Amino acid sequence: MTTPRPETLAKLTPVLTKRWLSPDAWRIGTYEQLDGYAALRKALKAHPDDLIQLIKDSGLRGRGGAGFPTGLKWGFIPQGDGKPHYLVVNADEGEPGTCKDLPLMTHDPHSLVEGVIIASYAIRAARAYIYIRGEAVHAARRLRNAVQEAYDKGYLGRNILGSGYDLELVVHSGAGAYICGEETALLDSLEGFRGQPRLRPPFPATHGLYASPTVVNNVGTIASVPPIVLGGADWWKSMGTEKSSGPMIYSLSGRVANPGQYECSMGVTLRELLELAGGMQPGHNLRFWTPGGSSTPLLAAEHLDVPLDFEGVAAAGSILGTTATQIFSDQDCPVYATYRWLDFYHHESCGKCTPCREGNYWMVRVYRRILAGQGTHEDLDTLLDTCDNILGRSFCGLGDGATSSVTSSLKYFKQDYLDYIEGRTAPKLSDKQLVGA
Ligand code: NAI
Ligand code: SF4
Repeated sequence: MTTPRPETLAKLTPVLTKRWLSPDAWRIGTYEQLDGYAALRKALKAHPDDLIQLIKDSGLRGRGGAGFPTGLKWGFIPQGDGKPHYLVVNADEGEPGTCKDLPLMTHDPHSLVEGVIIASYAIRAARAYIYIRGEAVHAARRLRNAVQEAYDKGYLGRNILGSGYDLELVVHSGAGAYICGEETALLDSLEGFRGQPRLRPPFPATHGLYASPTVVNNVGTIASVPPIVLGGADWWKSMGTEKSSGPMIYSLSGRVANPGQYECSMGVTLRELLELAGGMQPGHNLRFWTPGGSSTPLLAAEHLDVPLDFEGVAAAGSILGTTATQIFSDQDCPVYATYRWLDFYHHESCGKCTPCREGNYWMVRVYRRILAGQGTHEDLDTLLDTCDNILGRSFCGLGDGATSSVTSSLKYFKQDYLDYIEGRTAPKLSDKQLVGA
């Protein structure tokens, strides 16, 4: 295991994670002792428009994967329209490999609750929801407890801290469908319908929950708001890069000595993250990795020094996504890993549109054939052709995301496919596993 050098340790910028190791950090007393709810007191003295401007000035971009500018999104909410406004936090973290929101809600739920109150005040919402993944029972319990503590202390409910501002906050658990992390499917699910994506535009900013103006933001985005209110836009921008400001929680999993969450200034490289995480596991050499979860194109060992910010990763041909870096070694098979991801997307496809529903079904069957030693050279063309017909032709991002590992693994690791097809690699699946796709 390697020990990080001081200059690499300096890349760690704990802002959202700074309380995680404090004893009982999830309790309101601990949170208040560590600056908790100081940002709310400050925010309630400001004009809502000034708060939106502050978030714009900070350059904060969405932490859910797409990186949309947060202040701009808040500014889309029409004012004086007479309709109710809503804030909905997308806590349906479900991207394979992604693990930053659930630990945040488990260790430091009040940072999210405080962020919700400030963001709701800024967009003039009187009701907010946190839609949390159904399987995340422990995090939901912590969150509900934090919400109750905040009500008891007068941070939620009527006339918050004597400001005249009222807010009700509801924690809603989903039922375990990955598609409900897509923002419009989430809204349908919250309204009590089957969670399936809606046509966009119109975007939720104007036609969201109950057809009213709604901001949908990720957990990490909202938890970034209190530190920005306290520290200011310039302090936030002093971390990260020009277009990707602030710190980011990178979750490392796979063949790494110390997997976990590492909060660093945006633009850190995988080489530096691996150093912070003690290097690769003994006997393993890096072969391929995802920069932002399974829906982002794979990168290879040659990309160790790519800056992990929105622009840097895009220039390398991938997407920063949810900064879930899944690390694979020379002992892992890119064909099999891609098959496992694809099987996930095939299972989670909501079935609304043909390219995703049918394309993923057929690609899983092709992968099974290849991995059972029965693939043909034509199968590789079929895979690329199918991806071509899914990408940009699907109704929502799930279909597009499913193709990422297929096209990128064929780009970097075609030889691995050929080794199965030409009999140099022993089959990984049996004939029995060919059926049932
Ligand atoms: P998107 O780029 O279409 O939209 C991003 C956000 O900006 C949305 O909230 C959208 O409403 C808003 N927006 C965009 N253009 C707008 C406009 N003209 N007016 C008003 N609002 C506008 O991205 P999308 O499809 O919402 O999310 C895709 C990302 O989600 C992927 O990059 C992927 O990495 C990530 N993802 C995250 C998962 C997780 O577990 N956190 C799971 C799966 C995917
Ligand atoms: Fe449903 Fe897939 Fe179409 Fe999205 S792309 S609407 S998940 S079938």
